[in-house]
Amino acid sequence: MPIVFTSAGNPKTWTAQLKEHGITVVHVVSSVKFALKAQEAGVDAVVAEGFEAGGHNGRDETTTMCLIPMVKEQLSIPLIAAGGIGTGRGMLAAMNLGADGVQIGSRFVATPESSAHQNFKQVVVDAKEGDTLLTLKELTPVRLVKNEFFNKVEAAYQSGANADKLKEILGRGRAKKGMFEGDLVEGELEIGQISGLIHEIKPASEVVKEIITEYRQALAEQQTDKYKF
Ligand SMILES: Cc1cc2nc3c(=O)[nH]c(=O)nc-3n(C[C@H](O)[C@H](O)[C@H](O)COP(=O)(O)O)c2cc1C
Repeated sequence: MPIVFTSAGNPKTWTAQLKEHGITVVHVVSSVKFALKAQEAGVDAVVAEGFEAGGHNGRDETTTMCLIPMVKEQLSIPLIAAGGIGTGRGMLAAMNLGADGVQIGSRFVATPESSAHQNFKQVVVDAKEGDTLLTLKELTPVRLVKNEFFNKVEAAYQSGANADKLKEILGRGRAKKGMFEGDLVEGELEIGQISGLIHEIKPASEVVKEIITEYRQALAEQQTDKYKF
């Protein structure tokens, strides 16, 4: 079944055309408002992505923990949770909040299949809690590793830089430079908060197997006394 995921734009732009060709459309959002807009545009499912996520992000800083139940309360089409999920327990937590499935990004950066540069993969493996922050909200908000480029942006904020100045500092091709060319100093390194739980580069198939195994174990645990009141 052909599926297209669209994001970072108006869901009306492509949905009708894609659906005319028998393609299932899923749109990525970071708020309840845009989830409902996507539903109205006729998409088949919505990915709701919380503030924890790697890469570009919403401005409102709504965490996955809050976003999923809030979207669930109002949405009537299938809901996929994203942002901060990298384990079976995380996946089960999202399902418990009302998600019908999950989308995982950051965890798959640290796999041999990922097209990211080895230097960046190692940064992800070495990252600890607190090593990323959402920045550049005036342009397109993005969660970055706190490297030298990130510090340059922070210094610009301290000196009162406006959006034009930030744009100038960002320049062009920073993400490519950091994530694909492995420039850990001048490049943009986009990764989610869950990087603090990623300790190893391993094949994507193993990542999936581990997530499913842990999900099943955690689900079985939920039937035990620990969870009863
Ligand atoms: C390095 C990186 C690049 C990404 N690029 C895109 C992108 O181009 N388009 C998009 O819709 N989402 C992109 N994402 C977001 C993922 O599709 C996914 O929603 C997100 O990573 C989920 O949160 P997690 O990182 O906590 O797993 C990217 C994520 C990462 C980590």
